[in-house]
Amino acid sequence: MTENLLPPARVLGIETSCDETAAAVVEDGRRALSSVVASQAELHAKYGGVFPEEASREHIRTIYAVVEEALQQAHLSLDDIDAIAVTQGPGLPGSLVVGLNFAKGLALGGGKPLIGVNHLEGHIYSAWLDPKDGEPEPAFPLVALVVSGGHTELALMTSHLTYQRLGGTLDDAAGEAFDKVGRLLGLGYPGGPAIQAAAAGGDPAAFAFPRAWLEGTFDFSFSGLKTAVLHQVRDLKRKTLTPEAAAAVKDWNAVDAPLPTADLAASFQQAVVEVLATKARFAAQQHNAKELIVAGGVSANAALRALVTKDTPGRVHIPALKYCTDNAAMIAAAGYYRHALGMSAAEPMAMDALPNWAVGS
Ligand SMILES: Nc1ncnc2c1ncn2[C@@H]1O[C@H](COP(=O)(O)OP(=O)(O)OP(=O)(O)O)[C@@H](O)[C@H]1O
Ligand SMILES: [Mg+2]
Repeated sequence: MTENLLPPARVLGIETSCDETAAAVVEDGRRALSSVVASQAELHAKYGGVFPEEASREHIRTIYAVVEEALQQAHLSLDDIDAIAVTQGPGLPGSLVVGLNFAKGLALGGGKPLIGVNHLEGHIYSAWLDPKDGEPEPAFPLVALVVSGGHTELALMTSHLTYQRLGGTLDDAAGEAFDKVGRLLGLGYPGGPAIQAAAAGGDPAAFAFPRAWLEGTFDFSFSGLKTAVLHQVRDLKRKTLTPEAAAAVKDWNAVDAPLPTADLAASFQQAVVEVLATKARFAAQQHNAKELIVAGGVSANAALRALVTKDTPGRVHIPALKYCTDNAAMIAAAGYYRHALGMSAAEPMAMDALPNWAVGS
């Protein structure tokens, strides 16, 4: 199935599953006419992670202006919109409800169809956005790797909106590992971009951190790696103290010692991206998928982008940087295909948030 067999439609997307309030207008599932993202990262930075109640309050404060801005930037009014797509799950319940209720109001008021989109499906569909000149759209069968703050999932897609789960993380998500190690190295939140920046001057082979291959499966595990970094940091700090002073330490986080942060960051990053790139490539080979999509916040990582592109024989689709982390253009893109394939909600006002919605279920 190709997109030109599907009817044209302009979809307004709304995303409030976590700590970004976002709205976007996308035409025919691919061309973003606008994409507005109001990030709450600064608000949550002081907590070292997302504070759910603050997140939903901030969504309420921001959503009207963000949606209005998305329509304005697209030079459109609600009348020009064919359907409204909203993230229905997974995500923080209190945050999801803000976007869902706002979308219901717009759908009811404007007489528009409402489409509930899975947030991870949205990340996958970010690969369809803003194609460069002449670039063909992703072709099936393909393997999709979603690596984000809350998820690490590998799925096989044989057609639009069909997902066969191949594996996923058994513990921390890849982005979560970046965030935790970022905190451990004193680099702040979110850890991913900070680790990438710190790693730029480091040696990826300086520390031999473990890789959990979990052979014979397409599952992942990052908690052992995180613990290995923790132990390495403690050992390095211990070496700067006398044995007596080290024995008296109660909280190693409070011990301020110069660390080879660049080497630690580069070695950690290398361990994560090697496993992600290798397992995604194997999954594609084993399932005769000629193409690979890598999406989600961690797909913004330059080392991962480079390795996956170099190592994979078939075509690799990685979204533009602005569509890697949470945005609403990806929700509108996925929403377009749901709408075009007749999957709009039959009873929009009865639509509930699905905080634990697994992709493909
Ligand atoms: N350059 C980068 N390198 C590595 N990780 C990155 C980079 N940029 C962002 N990240 C990570 O991406 C994550 C955020 O991605 P995203 O917005 O997709 O996640 P989320 O929406 O919070 O989680 P989910 O999509 O699972 O609900 C954070 O964990 C962040 O550290
Ligand atoms: Mg996300």
